[in-house]
Amino acid sequence: MKKRPYTICLMMTTLDGKILVDKWGDSPRIEKLGGKFEEVHNQIGSYSWIVGRTTMEKDFTNFAKPVYKPGTHSIPRTDSNANPDAGTYAIVIDPHAKLGWEKSEMHGDHVITVLAESVPDAYLAHLQDIGVSYIFGGVTEIDLNIVLEKLYNLFRIDILMVEGGGHLNGSFLNEGLIDEYHHLLLPVVDGNHDNPAMFEIAQKGKKFDAALFKLEQVKRIEDDVLWLTYSCGPQVKKIH
Ligand SMILES: NC(=O)c1ccc[n+]([C@@H]2O[C@H](COP(=O)([O-])OP(=O)(O)OC[C@H]3O[C@@H](n4cnc5c(N)ncnc54)[C@H](OP(=O)(O)O)[C@@H]3O)[C@@H](O)[C@H]2O)c1
Repeated sequence: MKKRPYTICLMMTTLDGKILVDKWGDSPRIEKLGGKFEEVHNQIGSYSWIVGRTTMEKDFTNFAKPVYKPGTHSIPRTDSNANPDAGTYAIVIDPHAKLGWEKSEMHGDHVITVLAESVPDAYLAHLQDIGVSYIFGGVTEIDLNIVLEKLYNLFRIDILMVEGGGHLNGSFLNEGLIDEYHHLLLPVVDGNHDNPAMFEIAQKGKKFDAALFKLEQVKRIEDDVLWLTYSCGPQVKKIH
């Protein structure tokens, strides 16, 4: 079996399983509940973390536009580790190079962006100029098994926090690549039916009918929040 990091997924949801904190209004109580994610992240440990492109642009890069270096020649599609001494990494799956980067750090962690090989050369040239690391996860689509293997072998990441959103988590779960799941259940109901859940998997390509989990720990933390820890069990399929 190929080596990959041990993966810990962390998400917080309302009682009705919704994940979009920004739709819950501006009350100080909601703001305090929103801070639980970071608190628990720090309690679990200072590990490298990975998010989807949508989460990165919304919660971290503030919708910055991609930058292209003018006059770029062809750049080979080889992975680039721009900071071999970085201890922890902020990683994003951005297959089509939609994110704009101005620096190579996010919240003190060195940035690695996971791209498809089809991205423009001028985009890679800018990443090289500012020292952002990048790896290729496939020619046009991303294979998460390859991504994890590269993170383990090229960056020595042996524990990885998988931190949303729903589509990123869903694609990890679909591939059987989540080892542990931490769920923060907030005392809030959202009720919006257009708000995603913590695992979103497109019907086409979905590999199971249900994924089973085993409850390992239940903790009641401040502000009526439940912190549930699960290990991930087998995936099951209906016999038709
Ligand atoms: N409540 C919580 O704990 C929590 C935690 C984190 C985030 N969030 C929220 O979640 C929301 C975003 O969630 P989301 O589900 O819409 O988006 P997301 O999972 O953050 O990002 C989805 C995008 O990432 C890329 N991607 C992810 N997995 C991929 C794969 N296996 N292969 C190829 N591309 C992949 C694709 O980018 P392209 O579209 O460019 O192809 C995809 O559209 C944000 O509002 C954020 O604030 C909540």
